[in-house]
Amino acid sequence: MTTSLLENQLLKRKRMGNLRTLPKQHPLIDFASNDYLGLARSSEMADAVMWEWKKRSGHLNGLGSTGSRLLTGNAAYAQKLEERLAAFHGFETATLFNCGYMANIGLHSAIASDDSIFIFDAHVHASVRDGLRLSRARSFPFRHNDLDHLHIRLKSLSAKGRCFITIASLYSTDGSQAPLRAISDLAQQYGALLIVDEAHAIGALGPSGRGLVAEQRINAKIFALIVTFGKALGTSGAMILGSSLLQKTLHNFARTYIYTTALPLINLAAIACSYDRFPLMDHARGHLRHLCARFGSFSPIHAIPVKGNAAAKEKAFHLSQAGFDVSALLSPTIRQGHEALRVCLHAFNTDEQVSRLQNCLWRMR
Ligand SMILES: Cc1ncc(COP(=O)(O)O)c(C=O)c1O
Repeated sequence: MTTSLLENQLLKRKRMGNLRTLPKQHPLIDFASNDYLGLARSSEMADAVMWEWKKRSGHLNGLGSTGSRLLTGNAAYAQKLEERLAAFHGFETATLFNCGYMANIGLHSAIASDDSIFIFDAHVHASVRDGLRLSRARSFPFRHNDLDHLHIRLKSLSAKGRCFITIASLYSTDGSQAPLRAISDLAQQYGALLIVDEAHAIGALGPSGRGLVAEQRINAKIFALIVTFGKALGTSGAMILGSSLLQKTLHNFARTYIYTTALPLINLAAIACSYDRFPLMDHARGHLRHLCARFGSFSPIHAIPVKGNAAAKEKAFHLSQAGFDVSALLSPTIRQGHEALRVCLHAFNTDEQVSRLQNCLWRMR
């Protein structure tokens, strides 16, 4: 690509009002991050992670994992952690990935063959779409949470090849929840394999923070469940839960698992410490539910529609001047005409902060 081509692309973005730049750090009240339980900012958790890391680093490479899990980057500690996490979530196996983006890409590009078909909710995360692009299978979207459209897709496609359905349990763009039970029934009816991305639900929702699949008690009907550790769990990394056959497939065909350096010990220790804590945080989850009800939201993520990128950015700026960090959801990240302000509620937010934000939003209407 020549320099002028790059410049032209960026200029086009700028004209459309969606040029991305890194935000400045301001001491604002957090209504934007994915740290739903406040674990990422917990000094108690940070101390526990350092303790765990120190305890283990004598026996393991303390800083870097030194290689791919399939070469020198494997450790008994990582395997024990996977066994613990699989048992906690009620699946046969857990396979760690360096992040959710890599988990989705690795999974979707690894499991399908030429005659497979992916049917996916139109609102799935970019990492699913990128994984589908790398897959040899054909893929077809269905309208967001539209069971009739999914049914039509399954009717017309299920005879043509092995079908996979990919959805999220809680959608990050607007906080909507998937009709999990109905979708898993449809999957069963048509012999399709169901993949659920629980990135935003784990830790924040479900029994002991186990997520929405656990709340619906449909674990046994899920082919693959994606859990990320960088949101409510306060650290980073991800895993794919499923059968031992799925794990063997990932070990052999998921290129984002095979061709990358495994997570370092400090990250594994942070995941272990997070699993020591978040299941016990029912009180925090209760306060989060209370704030959602107060805000009039069904989930910790709430989208307020705004027309156009410029208006969304202006409103987010206005809120920042009033002391609130609220994200503007811009196109092309979301469809043009569906721009919004996204409010993320957290267990550490107070009633008073939520009331002040509501007043500010009311005045801006
Ligand atoms: C639904 C969903 N899946 C996957 C990811 C990727 O996870 P990670 O941030 O761990 O790469 C995200 C990140 O925002 C997400 O929202």
